Amino acid sequence: MDIPKTKITAEIFFTPAQVDDLFLREKNVAVVDVLRASTTIITALSNGAREIIPVPSIESAVKISGSLFGDVTLRGGERHAKMIEGFNLGNSPAEYTEETVKGKSIIFCTTNGSLAITKGRYAKNLVVAGFVNISKVAEFLASLGEDFFILCAGNQNNFCIEDVVCAGMILSKTEQILGQNFVIGDSGLAAMSLYKTYNRSILKMIRQSDHGKYLTELGFREDIKLCSGIDCIPEVPIFANNVLTLKRDDTKKTETEVKPKQKSSQKK
Ligand code: MLT
Repeated sequence: MDIPKTKITAEIFFTPAQVDDLFLREKNVAVVDVLRASTTIITALSNGAREIIPVPSIESAVKISGSLFGDVTLRGGERHAKMIEGFNLGNSPAEYTEETVKGKSIIFCTTNGSLAITKGRYAKNLVVAGFVNISKVAEFLASLGEDFFILCAGNQNNFCIEDVVCAGMILSKTEQILGQNFVIGDSGLAAMSLYKTYNRSILKMIRQSDHGKYLTELGFREDIKLCSGIDCIPEVPIFANNVLTLKRDDTKKTETEVKPKQKSSQKK
């Protein structure tokens, strides 16, 4: 990987309210919503969903559904962490199994996560990050070799500790890959410091968080476990043309790409 010559600046927004849609235009952005939108999106795409269409409101979800074919489209998301009336799926990663989502387009509407993603719709590169794909996201950001922003979804424009710890871990891992300390402000320092505090007890930290406790009360204790699994889904959802799909790993060659090379080495 080419090491960038100039110092990289990395900034963290604790909530979407801190930033304007147009500010994120042409920027590199990672959106973090550990509980649970990021984890659900990553799970759905890795289980073969064709695409996720994040929308900012239920109204938009209903509008878009009207123009898509019913048999290949699902509506997923939540309000107050519960499934929205008339939707096919809630926001539990466990619901997004291969059997349910393979080949489907999923219109996705959540209180904070999908809203934060649509806020970054003019970004140059926008990826979805959680603990489950954290090293892959760090590799992706490092490969850009440019300044980047981490947008934490928070909860109704309030600070969420699990998103900020995750942001701190992304910073730390990306710095490690590039072998440099980034230029960071107070938000970056705070995220790094929280990450260092909770590094060894991510699951416990999530369980103690406000939203973690709320989800537990609702019976979603298992979701918290799924959302805390570091690197258990090494895939990166990337946003382009209003949809999220999985970033193609260029290092994974297809069989036809690999074959000619094998032939020429046999000749020698
Ligand atoms: C959201 O996007 O607001 C969250 O993912 C809420 C939830 O836990 O369902």
